[in-house]
Amino acid sequence: QRAATGEAHGKAILFGEHAVVYGAPALALPLPELKCRATVRRTAGPDAGVSRTRFPAPGPHGTQGEAAGGITEELLLLLGAFTERTGLDTSPALEIRLDSHVPPCRGLGSSAANARALVRALDALFGTCLDEQEIFDLVQVSEQSAHGSASGIDALTTGRERPVLLTDGQPRTPAVGADFHVVVADSGNSGSTKKAVGMLRDAFARNPDHRTRFVHRSTGFTRAALDDLAAGHLPAVGRRLTDCHQLLAGLGLTTDRTDALARIALDAGALGAKMSGGGLGGCVVALTTTVAHAESVSTALTDRTGARTWTTAVAKGAGH
Ligand code: MEV
Repeated sequence: QRAATGEAHGKAILFGEHAVVYGAPALALPLPELKCRATVRRTAGPDAGVSRTRFPAPGPHGTQGEAAGGITEELLLLLGAFTERTGLDTSPALEIRLDSHVPPCRGLGSSAANARALVRALDALFGTCLDEQEIFDLVQVSEQSAHGSASGIDALTTGRERPVLLTDGQPRTPAVGADFHVVVADSGNSGSTKKAVGMLRDAFARNPDHRTRFVHRSTGFTRAALDDLAAGHLPAVGRRLTDCHQLLAGLGLTTDRTDALARIALDAGALGAKMSGGGLGGCVVALTTTVAHAESVSTALTDRTGARTWTTAVAKGAGH
C-alpha cells in the first residue's frame, strides 16, 4: 500500500508563554533541528489504527525510548476532525507511525509537531489539498485536547521557518535586526503544559487581579523585546528574557533545575535566560550572539549539569 509522509518541527517560546492564553502577545522560534515525521498508509492488517512513536536515544536526563501502542486521544480527535472536514472515511484502516526528534513534555511543541506532521501526511495520502488555515484548525483540535486551552502559538510555530509573533490571535513575522543563536537546555524533567495551564487558570480564578498584573507585565516585556530585537539590541532582549524568567518563577512555573540552568547559562555569559513553554520542568532558553558564544554557553550547561542542549540560529530579517 502507498505510504505518505508529513513533517513538522519543534518550537521554543522566547516571550509570552501562558500570558498568550489570556490574549497577550507571544514570540516563538521554530526549532528546525528537532524534526517530526508522520508516515501513514492504508492497511487492512492488524496494524490498523496503531501508532508507533519513536524518539531519539535518550540523553543523560532523557526518559523516552520508543512508545508503541494505541494512538493518543488527541490524535484520534484530530483524525475524527479530518474525517468530518473532508468527508473521507479514514480511521478504521490506517497505519500511523510517528518518528519524532522533539522530546515530549519539555515545552518544545511535541504535541503540535505530531499533530501537524500527521495532518500533512493525511493531506498527502488523501490528496485533500488543505490550505494553511485548515491545517492550523485541525492541529488546534489536537492542541485543545492536549493543553486544555491552546493559544495556537505551538500549532503555528511548528510549521514556520521564521520566528512567529502572535498578537490578537494573528500570526506575524517580527523584524530581527541582528543575527543571534538560542541555546535550548533540557532539564530532563517532564512538565505537563495542561497541568501548568490548569494551575494558572485556578489561581487566576481565585485572584483575577493577579491575572491582570501578569498579562500586563508579560505584554510589556514582549513589546519592549520586539523593539529591541528589531533594533538589533541583543543585550536588551537578553535582560528582558531574564526578567521574564523571574515573572514566571513568581507564578510557581519554574523548578530548582530550570532555575539552576538559567543561572548557569547567565554565569557562562548568555545575554539572558529563561524557562520556556509550559514550565513545571521542561526546557530553558539562553540568548547568545555568535556560534562560538552559543557553543561556550552550551558547553558550560552540559559540563556542569549533564543537560542535553540544542542550538538554533536566527538570521536577521524584515518583519511583516
Ligand atoms: C505552550 O507552549 C505555551 C502555553 O502558553 C500554552 C499555549 O499558549 O497554548 C503555556
